[in-house]
Amino acid sequence: MLKPTLIKAAKASGALIKEKINSKFLIEHKEGPNNLVTEVDKASEALIMNIIRESFPDHYILSEEIGALEMDSSYKWIIDPIDGTVNFANGIPLCCVSIAIEKDGVIIMGAVYNPMLDEFFFAEKNNGAYLNDHRIHVSDQHQVKHACLVTGFPYSYLNSENGPLEVFGRLIREGIPVRRLGSAAIDLCWVAAGRFDGYYEHKLQAWDSAAGFLMVEEAGGKVTDFKGDYYSPYQPHLVATNRKIHDELLKWISNTHQ
Ligand code: IPD
Ligand code: CA
Ligand code: CA
Repeated sequence: MLKPTLIKAAKASGALIKEKINSKFLIEHKEGPNNLVTEVDKASEALIMNIIRESFPDHYILSEEIGALEMDSSYKWIIDPIDGTVNFANGIPLCCVSIAIEKDGVIIMGAVYNPMLDEFFFAEKNNGAYLNDHRIHVSDQHQVKHACLVTGFPYSYLNSENGPLEVFGRLIREGIPVRRLGSAAIDLCWVAAGRFDGYYEHKLQAWDSAAGFLMVEEAGGKVTDFKGDYYSPYQPHLVATNRKIHDELLKWISNTHQ
């Protein structure tokens, strides 16, 4: 029942996102002027939660807009009702819904759906990653200097050593293409599909990355924090690659490449 419920919730949310993307909707500001939430984010969240609750009323839910609905359960649903809200609010068709299921602290299933491109990504632990039911795999690129990368930036400036602008500058000064799509979940899925060779970001939340992280792992890629340690979605740093450029990309991020 977990998989059909996950798919039903992601498809229903995707249909809503597609219906509303170019309509008029209420936009509110969270912290800072550019961190937005629209009424569609909230409607998508309510829709997803109702679908989960119908089948699993006692599961724990962690969702971006409503926060943690704690339950004494070994299952936790981690939801981003619209990832890429700024894109959504501007009618840019690079946004999606992202839903992951964690069991006993391990992400076991994830779905990311961009309804505008009709791209439905699904992954299950030890059972592969799929785009519209076709198995996907990471790329073969083995050198950062020939790689196509993607990153994202937080809503407020991070003035830390090797912060987002420093790392971005370091890579683009070498002529390495680094894209910025504006949706962490899509960035991760596109690494899984082999479109990007690597992705890194300095400040993510669990709902941005939980489903996409499993997508990359199940497509044969590697996901770690900036030190190269096993990735936990409950800390901010993420590096996701095709595995082959992983160690080298970590060095570019920490400025220890030669
Ligand atoms: C944001 C997007 C963006 C990333 C930000 C996230 P939201 O999520 O994933 O790509 O750079 O860090 O907060 O606000 O659109 O759900
Ligand atoms: Ca997000
Ligand atoms: Ca969001």
